[in-house]
Amino acid sequence: MDVLADWTDQTRRDFRERITRTTHNLHTSPLFSEEAVERLIEIHPREYADFATMDETGSRSSWKTGDPGKLSGKELIRAVKSGRLWINLRNLFGIHDEYRALLDQMFEELQDENPGFHPVRILGGLLVSSPQAKVPFHMDRTDTMLWHISGKKRVFVYPHHDEVATDEEREEVLLHAFNDELVHHPEAEKHAKCFDLEPGEMICWPLHTPHRVENRGTLNISLATEYTTPEARQLNNAMYFNGVMRRRFGWQPPRIAETHGLNRTVRYVAGALMRKAGVTVPVETPHEGGYRFEIDPDAPLGVRA
Ligand SMILES: [Fe+2]
Repeated sequence: MDVLADWTDQTRRDFRERITRTTHNLHTSPLFSEEAVERLIEIHPREYADFATMDETGSRSSWKTGDPGKLSGKELIRAVKSGRLWINLRNLFGIHDEYRALLDQMFEELQDENPGFHPVRILGGLLVSSPQAKVPFHMDRTDTMLWHISGKKRVFVYPHHDEVATDEEREEVLLHAFNDELVHHPEAEKHAKCFDLEPGEMICWPLHTPHRVENRGTLNISLATEYTTPEARQLNNAMYFNGVMRRRFGWQPPRIAETHGLNRTVRYVAGALMRKAGVTVPVETPHEGGYRFEIDPDAPLGVRA
């Protein structure tokens, strides 16, 4: 089975430059049937599994970490179907050989289709989430791709625009490892592009593109893959440098999108050195440990405090 179903010349031009939506065949693989996912939830090491719930806004501050206890995979899936739960089986591909082989194949196909694409540090997790689950407005620090397998997802994607998120707001995510949420300004919504994903669709976008997700009415199963590239590392380091200089020394750096050549190089080298030396900015919002809940397939939202 080929993973990529329809990688056209247009897809090749858009990949990593613009929002890219295309089709794949992962939803037909027995590795992602409901039974396979139930089994995975049971055997996946718990230290690599996140069980979370959120309120109806989906905001990061409302996200709580949960305890699956001794529930079976079947019971957990039942709780996900009836509740507002979100399960992430992190590092799926590093842990289970048959899934590792699939990830290797996915990225081999991507590299065959896209000359010059050299991803490093490829990781992926399986997302299993409820009909009412939401992921808040945020940006990822690495390039990500969302491979939708089961259910329906509405994905809102926003362009790089100051009304969506300024450089300063995006730096905030890079400066603090604990939080990827961006301030969601009402003006951002007029820039939003909305995509209703069906099983067998993949969507990705340029690095640091703000986005949010709302599930629609059914059990959702998706793969989220992420990778790093030398260009992403350079951009992150340059923005890290700008972020530290802005906050510690009151500098007003030029817009990162307009910083090129030597100017960009000096910034990313300085940013990398700062990171290595542990130069950072004080944390304004301490990370909340989060109250815990227990998963209960028979409780109204699948959770019990
Ligand atoms: Fe994301």
